[in-house]
Amino acid sequence: MRNPTNIFPDNLNSDVVENEAIVCPRSKTSRRAFIKGIIASGAVASSSGFMFGSIAGCSSDKSVAGSIERLVSLNVNGKMRRVDVLPQETLAMTLRYKLGLTGTKLGCDRGECGACTVLIDEVPVNSCSILTHTVRGRAVRTIEGLADSTGALHPVQQAFVDELGPQCGFCTPGQIMSAVALLQTIPTPTREQARQALSGNLCRCGAYDHYLNSVMRAAGKMS
Ligand code: FES
Ligand code: FES
Repeated sequence: MRNPTNIFPDNLNSDVVENEAIVCPRSKTSRRAFIKGIIASGAVASSSGFMFGSIAGCSSDKSVAGSIERLVSLNVNGKMRRVDVLPQETLAMTLRYKLGLTGTKLGCDRGECGACTVLIDEVPVNSCSILTHTVRGRAVRTIEGLADSTGALHPVQQAFVDELGPQCGFCTPGQIMSAVALLQTIPTPTREQARQALSGNLCRCGAYDHYLNSVMRAAGKMS
């Protein structure tokens, strides 16, 4: 009978199974060690490096040529953050669920709504559509990185408040990041230029005019 608290069947301890379940002939890795390695590595999807390492080189602790280092350093809002990142992980997922920066919203998760907009080297990017590994060595700025060290809001944020820009507010961080990028490039845009700059940010509440008013107010203050 299996011990319900033990995820390994009792007979995995037997010499028979231990000896017959050689996974890698070069390292003599047992089935038990192999299963433990997979569980320890997190999810099945994230364990491919371990598995390929075991099969190809019979070594789980050495990186395989072409594999991606999972522990990476990211420059986020001016601080270096060390984070364990899966090869297929998007920047939006890393920011929200690894670094706790939930100001960046996930709407469509497919590059259509702009809710996840962040700045990478001061260029607005849909963070749901870029892999975190590709932004190593680049400067990532999120909505949490706009206020100054005293906590004072960025002029664009303040203008959005003053103009009562948001309704539900879900799209607001993305709208603000796009507006910040615009005003850094064109400090005194026309309303049409502002409309173009925010055209990738959808608002299901339809607060577009309020947002444009906010951008124009911020432009007036910042110039
Ligand atoms: Fe990224 Fe919609 S969540 S574009
Ligand atoms: Fe609600 Fe834009 S304010 S989605």
